[in-house]
Amino acid sequence: MSEVLEQEAKAAPAHSARYTRNNPFYSTVTVNDLLTAEGSEKETRHVELTLDDGMTYTPGDAVGIIPENRPEAVEVVLKALGYKGDERVLDHYKVEISLEEALRTRLGIGKLARGCVTQFAKLAPDVDGLKALVGPENKPRAEEYCWGREFVDLVTDFPGVLKNPQELFNVLQRLTPRMYSIASSQAMHKDNVQTTVRVIRYESHGRERQGVASGHLGDRAGVGANMPIFLHANGNFRLPEDTSAPVIMIGPGTGIAPFRAFLEERQAQGAPGDNWLFFGEQRAALDFLYKDQLHEMRKNGVLTHLDTAFSRDQAKKVYVQDRMQEKAAELYRWLERGAYFYVCGDATRMAKDVELALLDVIAKGSNCTLEHANEYLAAMKKQKRYQRDVY
Ligand SMILES: Cc1cc2nc3c(=O)[nH]c(=O)nc-3n(C[C@H](O)[C@H](O)[C@H](O)COP(=O)(O)OP(=O)(O)OC[C@H]3O[C@@H](n4cnc5c(N)ncnc54)[C@H](O)[C@@H]3O)c2cc1C
Ligand SMILES: NC(=O)c1ccc[n+]([C@@H]2O[C@H](COP(=O)([O-])OP(=O)(O)OC[C@H]3O[C@@H](n4cnc5c(N)ncnc54)[C@H](OP(=O)(O)O)[C@@H]3O)[C@@H](O)[C@H]2O)c1
Repeated sequence: MSEVLEQEAKAAPAHSARYTRNNPFYSTVTVNDLLTAEGSEKETRHVELTLDDGMTYTPGDAVGIIPENRPEAVEVVLKALGYKGDERVLDHYKVEISLEEALRTRLGIGKLARGCVTQFAKLAPDVDGLKALVGPENKPRAEEYCWGREFVDLVTDFPGVLKNPQELFNVLQRLTPRMYSIASSQAMHKDNVQTTVRVIRYESHGRERQGVASGHLGDRAGVGANMPIFLHANGNFRLPEDTSAPVIMIGPGTGIAPFRAFLEERQAQGAPGDNWLFFGEQRAALDFLYKDQLHEMRKNGVLTHLDTAFSRDQAKKVYVQDRMQEKAAELYRWLERGAYFYVCGDATRMAKDVELALLDVIAKGSNCTLEHANEYLAAMKKQKRYQRDVY
């Protein structure tokens, strides 16, 4: 079970039980705006979706989006397999649908998974090229093959393997929902849920690709479009119950999303606690997500401090953790005052580097060893004062 599914199974409270990934709410897109400016290397969007009566969320939660594969991607798969799309197949629940519908709404034809190659190879045990991609000894080669490829590349490289369209259900995984951190507070937006979505587009092996869900939101979810959604509670990412406790938020890129929700919530509550946000992106002029709202919050005092790190505005990269180091003494004073420390965004590099910087801030501030800093951080975790939502 994936971490997200596991969290969902553990954390789904009564409010979201009505609508689930298997029984989603058919929401309407009411806003779909580009946050990044022309010339940016990113395409990050602000998307607002309606909620049904009784659907409630808390800042820190996520919304699950159930995407469809884009028609062009379905078309190339059908063409590569030599099918028309009107062939009949039985879906996972044995309901008869067309092959086109199955490829658009039921099956994951996006990024290629090693498991899919393995299942596909079972249909053609004598094909040498496929044999070389199967089994633990061939894992690195299979991973290299899968990187940047989609199902269409597999069936193009190894034609004639599939004998009938129903076999696709044994080969392809289900099309799964994607999670997006909620970027709004329901105290301010009673009837909708807002998200910050980076649209994934790239070129590989001679084809234009896009992320399934982010591409759907980027290209085919204009105002008025329908989108099946469900709410996903995350009890491990929560504002302090004590509204006077200080809050430090590290949210580069789309990691800003839950902190916009936190700040809106603190504003709506009239919370007396201080709020400090570190935001990072590539360029101030192109990628400063929610700039006006954050400046307004800084002006009206909701944000006590706003520190930004625009990595590509100067020759040497500057990241959020560099800003943390510059403000080490004050950060430590906040921690000593009982501040809650939150991190959201990239799990692979950023979250690890931020943790190292935090340990350094603690070691310097307390004039102690790294070992002591680790104990200090462990105590913070225990008190739920160090929380991360990283992906
Ligand atoms: C709890 C949680 C919260 C999240 N919050 C947010 C959020 O607030 N905003 C947000 O934008 N995302 C968020 N995500 C990520 C989001 O769920 C999706 O994973 C993301 O949008 C990609 O989904 P997709 O369907 O568009 O792409 P997919 O179809 O799943 O494809 C993505 C895959 O494409 C491949 N890929 C990407 N770029 C390249 C490249 N250049 N070359 C080759 N291959 C490449 C990679 O394998 C990558 O994993 C969150 C994830 C979690 C788990
Ligand atoms: N699963 C998916 O496919 C998917 C989809 C969308 C987003 N994401 C992930 O979501 C996260 C957020 O993506 P995003 O595009 O919004 O922002 P991002 O890639 O995290 O970039 C935001 C800022 O962080 C900087 N950065 C890079 N490495 C860093 C590090 N080690 N420490 C601190 N800052 C660092 C970037 O600088 P430079 O770029 O100049 O180095 C940029 O200025 C990333 O992990 C991204 O891969 C994943």
